[in-house]
Order: sequence, then structure tokens, then C-alpha cells
Amino acid sequence: MAIFPTLTGARPKIIAHRGASGYIPEHTLEGYSLAIDLGADYIEPDLVFTSDGQLVVRHDVYLSASTNISEIPSFQKRKRHSKRFGMSDWFVGDFTYKEIKTLKARQAFPGRSKDYDDKFSIPVFADVLRLAHEKSKQKGRPVGIYLETKKPAYYRKRGLDFAPVLLSTLKDFNLDRAVDQVVIQSFDPRILMRLSKMTELPLVLLLKENFKWPILMPLIARFAAGIGPAKKLLVRDGKSTGLLERAHQAGLQVHPYTFRNDAVGEGFKDIEAELAFYFKLGVDAIFTDFTDTAVAVRKSLG
Ligand code: G3P
Ligand code: CA
Repeated sequence: MAIFPTLTGARPKIIAHRGASGYIPEHTLEGYSLAIDLGADYIEPDLVFTSDGQLVVRHDVYLSASTNISEIPSFQKRKRHSKRFGMSDWFVGDFTYKEIKTLKARQAFPGRSKDYDDKFSIPVFADVLRLAHEKSKQKGRPVGIYLETKKPAYYRKRGLDFAPVLLSTLKDFNLDRAVDQVVIQSFDPRILMRLSKMTELPLVLLLKENFKWPILMPLIARFAAGIGPAKKLLVRDGKSTGLLERAHQAGLQVHPYTFRNDAVGEGFKDIEAELAFYFKLGVDAIFTDFTDTAVAVRKSLG
């Protein structure tokens, strides 16, 4: 029996979820650099648009949780209520990149170290690709980029389409055909279906916890190389739900999210047991905030 019964038999990959976000504020060059040093196969930038169409790396469309914007006097008047998002905050889409560049990142996850708050700036997508290129040279190995388009339909309605700007930025770094180094993920199947006609890069459809249609795997396989399910979709009462097997049968890789040392999944005694369970189940990659722990568990298995 293979130690890692993955789709291709290859060792599962480790994706640094928002960088080394368990240790350093998410989506900073410093966090990505640490994740690569800790052995991540991929770094994960979530992408959103500024008002002037720049792709900046943020998980949220708002800024108060992951930056110091609430303490910048000149920006206080820019806080507003958004009917679309049902909240009052400062929204990335209301600011130019020049303005975003004046902000500093903060640890958004409660209980994690704030030692690195207000030290690092907010990168654009090209900065992340530049870092990956430098670190690939330094490490003598490719550094994978596993990017996510956040709320593509919302931005497209505002005339901001991820597809062309993504592919042209990747092309600037000779990564637009790097099928072993770049993955494009989204919760929105429509942008992935469009991209599947524009690029050979592997596409991954993210699935929320409320996904109920494993029967759709062969349909998803028509435009995607894999699924990125919420990890709970794969396991119930300590056993496989059958979704991973169905995905593999349809030729899809399975990349569950998110493994966190400080938020272990229900029914597992610790993060090591949880990671080992999923690795042995046959996942092809995992998203984790703590790259080092995942690397150590994978190594301990073989
Ligand atoms: O992209 C995989 C995972 O990150 C999806 O959830 O909300 O952390 O971007 P989120
Ligand atoms: Ca993500």
C-alpha cells in the first residue's frame, strides 16, 4: 500500500497558506520568504484589485483586520458601509495602490504573535513573483505560486477582469506556461472555465463546507485539474466521505484547506495526527498556516 496514495503517486505538496501566516502577518514578502525557507512547495497569494486596477495580495476585500489602516488619520474619512459586503470598513477597491503602499500588515488571526505587526508592507502580485524567482535561485529549486482570484464576478462587474492581467503578469516572469510551478484557484467556477480556454496552467476549484455534489467531479474535471475542498468535506467520523476517491476517479487532484496548529480539526488529538490522517488518505497537497509542521509530518511518514 503506497504511503501517500495520491492521484499520481507523487509525495503530497505543501502550500504555505497566505505565506507563513502562523508566524508572520499574512500575505507579506517576509511571510512568503519564511515559508519557502521552511520548505513550502508553493506560496499562496490571494489577489484582490485596487481602485487603479493593481493586483494586491490580500485575503480580505477590506483592510481593518490585516493592516494598520484604522490608525491612519488621513484615511479615517474613507471608512464606509458596503451594502454588497454588509459591513463598514475600509475596502481595498476604494484605494489606489500608492495609498495601499503606505499601510503596514498586521497579524489577522487571534492569539498569534503580534511581534511583526506594522513592520511589513502590502505587496503587489509582481512583487511575489519577483521574490519567488529570487528564492528559487537561492534555493536551487522552483518555488511554486498557488494564486487565488478573490471575488472575480464582483470585480468583473466593475470592469476589472482577473484573467488578462493575471496571465500578462505571469508572462512578464515567464511563468504563463509554467504548468509545474503555477496553479490558479478560485471559488468561482466561471472564471476557471474562461481561464481553461486561455491557459494550460492547472486550475483548482475551491469547494466550501456546504458543497454537496460529489457527482459533479467528472464535470469539474472538464475544466479543472483539481479541487480544493474545505478539509471537512473529506472526512466524517474519522473516515473518508468518499469525495477524495470520487475526485481521484475523475482524474482530479485534491488539495484540502486549511491545516492550522492552533485550530486542529474536530476528532484529531493534535495537528500531527490530523496531517498524518489526510496524508495517508491520499491528498495531493494541503494548505497550511504552519509549513514547518506539515513538512515534518510528511517527512515522518516517508
Ligand atoms: O485558497 C484556499 C483557501 O485559502 C481558501 O480559503 O478564505 O483562506 O482564502 P481562504
Ligand atoms: Ca486562499
